[in-house]
Amino acid sequence: MHGSIATGITRLLGITISSLLCSFQGISSIGALAAQVTNGGGFGLISAGYQTADSLISELSLARSLLEAQNLTGILPVGVGYLGWLLDKMPFQEAESLLIAALTANVQAFWFSFGNDLGKWIRYVRENSSGKSPLIFVQVNSLEEAVYAVENLEADIIVAQGIESGGHGGSYAPPLFDLLQSILEHPFGSSPRPVVLAAGGLANGADIALQLTLGAAGVVMGTRFLLSPESKYTDAQREALIAANTEDTVRTVAFDHARGTIDWPEGIDGRGLRNDTVSDFEQGVSLELIQSKFKEGTRTQDRRRFLVWAGTGVGLMNRIMPAKDVVQELHQECQQQLAKLS
Ligand SMILES: Cc1cc2nc3c(=O)[nH]c(=O)nc-3n(C[C@H](O)[C@H](O)[C@H](O)COP(=O)(O)O)c2cc1C
Repeated sequence: MHGSIATGITRLLGITISSLLCSFQGISSIGALAAQVTNGGGFGLISAGYQTADSLISELSLARSLLEAQNLTGILPVGVGYLGWLLDKMPFQEAESLLIAALTANVQAFWFSFGNDLGKWIRYVRENSSGKSPLIFVQVNSLEEAVYAVENLEADIIVAQGIESGGHGGSYAPPLFDLLQSILEHPFGSSPRPVVLAAGGLANGADIALQLTLGAAGVVMGTRFLLSPESKYTDAQREALIAANTEDTVRTVAFDHARGTIDWPEGIDGRGLRNDTVSDFEQGVSLELIQSKFKEGTRTQDRRRFLVWAGTGVGLMNRIMPAKDVVQELHQECQQQLAKLS
C-alpha cells in the first residue's frame, strides 16, 4: 500500500504509510492491538485505564516485541492513555508508577482524558521524560475544554470527541460535526494552533475523508477496532457488534452501575449497545437485581445483559479483520473517496 496523506498528525508522529489514522484506547490493555495499528501505518494507543503498573509494563513489552519497524531512536511508536479522574483517585505512588511505566518504555505519546486536574499529570510527564518530551494528546468534549487544553495544558494534539462516540464520553458533547468545526474555527489567542483529530461514530474510509475535508488532521476510531481479533472482546461481543444497527446504541450510566464503576466525573456516561440491563435501569429495577443479572449475563455471554461499548457507526461495521488490515483498508477507502471528491 502506498500514497500517504500528509497532515499535521502524520508529521508530528512520523507515520508515513496510511498517514491519517490514529487509533484506539483499549477495553483493557491491548499491546497487540496497538502494535498492529502502528504496523498498519496508523498509531496505536494502549489504555492504562484500570491496569496495574505491572500489567501495563507487560503490555508495553508485548507491543515492542510485535512492532515491525526497527526504531533506531529507541522511541516506542505507540501511545498510552490515562483517565485523569482515576489517577487523581489512586494513591500518588500508584499513579506515578503507571506514568513511569510508559516513560521508561519511551513511548512516543501520552493521552489524557476525563479529569479536572490533567495539568498535574501532564507536568509530571514533561518534567520526568528524559530527552525529548513525549507528545501530549488531550481528548475533549466541548470547545471550552479544547480552549483549556490548548491554552493551559499546552496539548500538542486535541481529540474532539463527539456525542456519537463509543465507550465513555461527555453526555454534554455536541455532535462531532459541530464540535470539530467550533474548535477549528477558534482563534486560540497567542497559543500555537493545535493539531485536531476527530473521534466519534466513524466507521469507514469515507467517514475519515469527510473529517479531513472539514479540516481535521486525522481521526481516532475505537469501535471499529473492537472487531479485530487482537481486541480483548469475546466472540459473542463481536457478533453483537456485527448484528447491531446504528439505532441500537445508547448513552447511559446503566453499565457503570451494573458493573460497579460509578466514580466517573459528573456528566460522563458511555455509549454501548442497548439491552435489558439498560431498560431495567431506566425502569428503576433494583440495582441489586440488575447487578446479579449482569454478572450472570457476562458469565454466560448473554447479549441481552452483557456490555458492548459501541459508537453510532456500528451499523456500518460487519466484518472481523486483523487490526493492521483494518488500518490499510481504511486508508485505501479514504484515498478513493478523496479522489472522487477531487
Ligand atoms: C472499548 C472502548 C474503550 C475506550 N477507552 C477509552 C479510554 O480508556 N480513554 C479514553 O480517553 N477514551 C476511551 N475510549 C474512547 C475513544 O478514545 C474514542 O473517543 C471513541 O472510541 C471514538 O468513537 P467510536 O468508538 O465511535 O470510534 C474508548 C472507546 C471504546 C469503544
